[in-house]
Amino acid sequence: MERRQKIRLVRYDVPELDRHLFFNPASASIVVTDTLGASLIEAYLKGEAGDETFIESVWSRGLFEIPDDTDYGVVPNRLIIELTSACNLRCKTCYMAAATALEDELSTEEVKQLLSEAAQAGTKSVALMGGEPFLRKDIGEIVKFALARFSDVQVSTNGTIINEGFFRSLKGTSNLTIQVSLDGADPRSNDAIRGKGAFERASRLLDRAHAAGLKTAISGVLNSLNYNLVGKMCDFAYDKHARMTIFHKVHVVGRAESFPEILPSKQELMHGMGVLLNKFHEYEISGKMIVDFPHNRCFRGDRALDARYPGCHFGRAFAFVTSNGNLVCCSHLRDGEFVYGNIREGGLLEIWQSSEHLNYMRELTVDEIPSCSQCEFKYMCRASCRADAYANSGTLLGDPPDCEALKAYYRYVLDHFARNTEPTLPRSKPCSS
Ligand SMILES: C[S@@+](CC[C@H](N)C(=O)[O-])C[C@H]1O[C@@H](n2cnc3c(N)ncnc32)[C@H](O)[C@@H]1O
Ligand code: SF4
Ligand code: SF4
Repeated sequence: MERRQKIRLVRYDVPELDRHLFFNPASASIVVTDTLGASLIEAYLKGEAGDETFIESVWSRGLFEIPDDTDYGVVPNRLIIELTSACNLRCKTCYMAAATALEDELSTEEVKQLLSEAAQAGTKSVALMGGEPFLRKDIGEIVKFALARFSDVQVSTNGTIINEGFFRSLKGTSNLTIQVSLDGADPRSNDAIRGKGAFERASRLLDRAHAAGLKTAISGVLNSLNYNLVGKMCDFAYDKHARMTIFHKVHVVGRAESFPEILPSKQELMHGMGVLLNKFHEYEISGKMIVDFPHNRCFRGDRALDARYPGCHFGRAFAFVTSNGNLVCCSHLRDGEFVYGNIREGGLLEIWQSSEHLNYMRELTVDEIPSCSQCEFKYMCRASCRADAYANSGTLLGDPPDCEALKAYYRYVLDHFARNTEPTLPRSKPCSS
């Protein structure tokens, strides 16, 4: 494919001001120009000759960057393992309704074998989660094994079990991150979902991990009870020296099915997303702390994430293995057709490379999703979460439930940039930049 055909831009027009915005998700570059400039950019993309000086200045702003070519069919970049389905908490919204361990969970040796296979193949990072991973007696042994093989190891925990031996023996380990989940910004809001005492204990664990010289992160689930607290949760994370906060919207599955009111309304979702975008600017752009949400990722300009591929890049960026060894699509697409095989039979890479369904998922683009293919924001939104669309419509190609809120959000953000960004103008007009 010719290089120019790989450039994926989002265009947004404000005709009454003669302002035309172009956004490139590969570089998070924004260029605002007038009608002439817009037609020159469009002509360049079609391979036609134009105003070289203008095109060069647009180039220098990163507008024509393209995503990296990565063959994800060969090796997953990241491996996520649910070490157990057991949990000491009973969070009201837990998508996997974690409670007790499965009968056939992977043994210590099987987890090590899986880690070895991925490391040898070239997988860079691993996330260990559950259920509650600190309920596994071999958690220290597994983490040390992983640390010796991957440049980035993350343990996702509810933060309520402080294993002193773990923190003492892993003191100062630079490639380990302890990610702690919170559902609120204080004991009252958090414990309403996670149970009494969960906030104080998670807060103590963050302090303990920081005192041990480990990196920490906070994971939050945006819902109708905390959409107006996500900013405070980011502030709390920063006060606790976290390197990152990561948010997802709640999925109404598992125990959350008993709380359908937990789903944020359109207004609540937009409010939460708007606050997270402001926090992204406050903390991440200034280099203080990463603030991650699926719908602010495009503003980060990550060339590893080709904007053609939907959602979180399932089947491409990461492999997800359940506590009994099933290789599945993701934490929410984990049953039926989304089980690609069991790593006990043939190993991770054999399934990763040969599964027909996984290959189909891997090659699916936003242009093949009927409701998204004509959407002006498709390369920013990347068709939103396909697990949500599947739950909403029963098909992977279905409509996501939040589309209206997402369109309003992207329109609002681009409109703001179009009106407040200094225009880059072609030669026939005085150049202001
Ligand atoms: C299932 S937990 C396992 C790890 C650990 N027990 C914890 O709570 O962090 C993994 C992540 O999923 C999130 N989560 C749980 N239920 C969810 C739901 N219904 N929708 C979206 N995320 C959810 C949790 O908040 C947590 O950050
Ligand atoms: S979200 Fe985590 S802590 Fe809460 S019940 Fe599920 S697995 Fe346990
Ligand atoms: S805003 Fe809606 S239609 Fe557009 S890409 Fe996102 S989910 Fe699809």
